[in-house]
Amino acid sequence: MYKDKNRPIEARVEELLSQLSLEEKVALVHGDSKFTTAGIPRLGIPKLWLADGPHGLREEVGPDTWKPAGRTDDFGTAMPCGIALAATWSPELAQAEGAAIGEEALARGKHIMLGPAVNIMRTPLCGRNFEYFGEDPFLASRIAVGYIRGEQSRGVASCIKHFAVNNQELERLTINVEVDERALREIYLPAFQAAVQEAGVYAVMGAYNKFRGQFCCHNSYLLNTVLKGEWNFEGVVISDWNGTHDTREAALNGLDLEMGTDKSYDDYYLSLPFLEGLRGGTFPMSVLDDKVRRNLRVMTSTSLLNGRLPGQLNTEEHQAIARRVAEEAMVLLKSDRGALPLDASKIKSLAVIGENATRLHARGGDSSGVKAFYEIAPLEGIVRRVSNSVNVTYSVGYGSNAGNDAAERAVQAAKAAEVVVFIGGLNHDRHFDTEGSDRLDMRLPHHQNALIERVVAANPRTIVVLVAGSPVEMGGWLERAPAVLLAWYGGMEAGHALARILFGDVNPSGKLPCTFPKRLADSPAHALNTYPGANGVVHYEEGLLVGYRWFDTNDIEPLFPFGHGLSYTRFEYSNLRLGQNAADFDVVNTGEREGGEVAQIYVHHAHPRLSRPEKELKGFSKIFLKPGERQRVSIPLGQESLAFYDPEQRGWVAEPGEFTILVGSSSRDIRLQGTLTVH
Ligand code: BGC
Repeated sequence: MYKDKNRPIEARVEELLSQLSLEEKVALVHGDSKFTTAGIPRLGIPKLWLADGPHGLREEVGPDTWKPAGRTDDFGTAMPCGIALAATWSPELAQAEGAAIGEEALARGKHIMLGPAVNIMRTPLCGRNFEYFGEDPFLASRIAVGYIRGEQSRGVASCIKHFAVNNQELERLTINVEVDERALREIYLPAFQAAVQEAGVYAVMGAYNKFRGQFCCHNSYLLNTVLKGEWNFEGVVISDWNGTHDTREAALNGLDLEMGTDKSYDDYYLSLPFLEGLRGGTFPMSVLDDKVRRNLRVMTSTSLLNGRLPGQLNTEEHQAIARRVAEEAMVLLKSDRGALPLDASKIKSLAVIGENATRLHARGGDSSGVKAFYEIAPLEGIVRRVSNSVNVTYSVGYGSNAGNDAAERAVQAAKAAEVVVFIGGLNHDRHFDTEGSDRLDMRLPHHQNALIERVVAANPRTIVVLVAGSPVEMGGWLERAPAVLLAWYGGMEAGHALARILFGDVNPSGKLPCTFPKRLADSPAHALNTYPGANGVVHYEEGLLVGYRWFDTNDIEPLFPFGHGLSYTRFEYSNLRLGQNAADFDVVNTGEREGGEVAQIYVHHAHPRLSRPEKELKGFSKIFLKPGERQRVSIPLGQESLAFYDPEQRGWVAEPGEFTILVGSSSRDIRLQGTLTVH
């Protein structure tokens, strides 16, 4: 009966629960291999399979080791990295990506996917910024909700992570985060809250770090009070792998499934020690039943108990989604008139320079890596696109294996060619964009600044492409290079997407989901010297002023502001009308090409009772317009868009007053504004 998917979930859960023995129940709340929990064959309950991760299906490891299993059936479609998805500003694309990953999860027999990852970018140095959705809670929420809706629509559970305040990799297993209540609620929790309340996410993963002195995987305040108490979360809380440290806290503080602990499975905190505590009366049976119910809810909501659905791997549609995300994510940071796009019919020779022209990234970065079915590197994409008419040369220029005369050879190649495309940036090596370590500084490694300087001097028609998942400082070449394109890690279609942007088949429409500071010391955690913390504690002294909230409130000019991204066409904004529940305005494409624009709405509160950032993103809309086409855009702007979190009232409050509504093409390119008076 509990397999009958037409019956209500809760009835099925209760029926199953009543049939389980104590030992069987305990078996459901901890792992029995790296990525499974035990099945209950007696009742026809199969093993539950979990899998990383946010960018596609990770390769198989285990069962009891992190070493790859060496299989030939564990490839996946590699999507662009998380920050790239956020740079599309497209919840629709996020939904398509989530659905595609869900279909691949089904095909590979997985029930819970460990993603999306939504920790806010507090410092440009965090090693996992590339996996996350940037610095703004509103944008991160919209992308997360789209992604989860897509994935869960396929009968697969999403597991949003890492709850919460896991904003640095340095000392991630031990660091204690101290952050005030308002910043917690306004900056660090909204994406999780939206995932629970809007997308109905089935699972939440606890973070490794501590919050206010207690480990997040069994943090009473975060899990019992906020997540389950205030937000009514009914799904399962899963520990991060080896993030559980104590049986009593795990039993009582809201953890429902312990995974990855560095012990034999019987010794897991929620295994025999828990069983003993239950038998001896230390813990009431109700805490076990609650955990089991939550696990059963996920099982009865997914293919585990609803019959396995076929799923699909690496379909043409999945490939197309990977490519579209990569294309819509690319941010044209700078473009002098006419520098881009390149006209392949008018160029005879092109020098491609840089390690990232050929380097593959999809498998890197640790748990979010994907063993891709294939991966088109930038050089390959360019060659496929133009080599029938353009003479393309390649020189590596820089990198750990480049050799001594690499820079000189690159400069000579630049001189000899009509146009240069330099493709540099970062990679997933330790201390760059990777899990487990933070970056040491914000610079481009391997003397790239000096090299780009020389290349631009040798050939002024040099297009600079940066492949990276977090902000980098740029040298003096920035003024002289005619165009700079931020490509992120583009997944397995990266090279095709890049070529299509460079040669104008696609018009760039990505916008920065994070501020690019001029120098590291300008960004809040570093300006205040509150990173990485001292004596095991990090105090988020900047409070609400994360990312552009800091730069705007303190009037610090960034290198490139939040929300920035240029296009090959131009958009004009007009006719703003502010209504009770929406802001309406016109956008018209006044250029010669079809293109996409992300119109953004920021709210400025004139005289708030509690101080607020200079402006806050509260809405956006991505629209595509043909040359000359005009569209009336309507962006919802209700009471909640004007509210702030009041720690005394323990809730969001919208107060009467004057609000300036700013409509812009970026956070610093405001095109229209109006005043909204709330009585
Ligand atoms: C990461 C998680 C990941 C888990 C399982 C941990 O190290 O923090 O994001 O899902 O490993 O691989």
